[in-house]
Amino acid sequence: MTMTRLGVNIDHVATLRQARGGKEPEPVAAAILAESAGADGIVVHLREDRRHIQDRDLQLLRQVVTTHLNLEMAPTAEMVSKAIETGPDLVTLVPERREELTTEGGLEVLKHKEKLRKVLTALHKHPIRVSIFIDPDIRQIEAAQGIGARTIEIHTGRYANAATLNEVEEEREYILNAVMFAKNIGLHVSAGHGLNYRNVGPIANIREIEELNIGHSIISRSVLVGLSQAVREMKRLIDNA
Ligand code: PXP
Repeated sequence: MTMTRLGVNIDHVATLRQARGGKEPEPVAAAILAESAGADGIVVHLREDRRHIQDRDLQLLRQVVTTHLNLEMAPTAEMVSKAIETGPDLVTLVPERREELTTEGGLEVLKHKEKLRKVLTALHKHPIRVSIFIDPDIRQIEAAQGIGARTIEIHTGRYANAATLNEVEEEREYILNAVMFAKNIGLHVSAGHGLNYRNVGPIANIREIEELNIGHSIISRSVLVGLSQAVREMKRLIDNA
């Protein structure tokens, strides 16, 4: 048994709601259910284009979440003020480009060192921990520590997308080396992106990873495992009408 924490990303509950622009499904309800099922934290990405999570979701989640609230956001002035105003337990800095479907790669810390240092300094003036989402790349990890990060999240996307067994093993090796390096220089280490019911095992068994953040696969599965009950309930209403 490992003691790795699970952060559940509920962005796609909001994606479904936004598809109709209505009120359901309610991300706050999803957060409560996830916590009561054992989630150790709730994760949301407030995107610049507000395509899923809205500002009101963030405010309500701050009031309701009793585990820890991890706000993923781009390192922009707008988001820094949002974070300071809301007070999540943790901010995870992620890159963001408007056209992308999801967060495609880690933050290039080396390239944006001074900008990121300022963002970290601003957030650290408040009781907010800050994590930086980076590829399993030793140089980026060193740079993250250099600008004052105490936690990093390793991007597992390349591992998740690896096509052959050799590639999977190779990508896991990169992750393992990155995790060990980060641990040895005193950083807290999380990991996530693209993890699902088939590929999570070999990452979850790296004990030095303290937390895994998983969204898409859990929300996708919940649609399927919940569908029979949802249909039965509707059928009963129609039959009893
Ligand atoms: N960690 C970070 C930093 C992310 O940006 C995301 C996606 O929002 C995740 C974890 C979760 O990825 P997935 O939805 O593929 O499980």
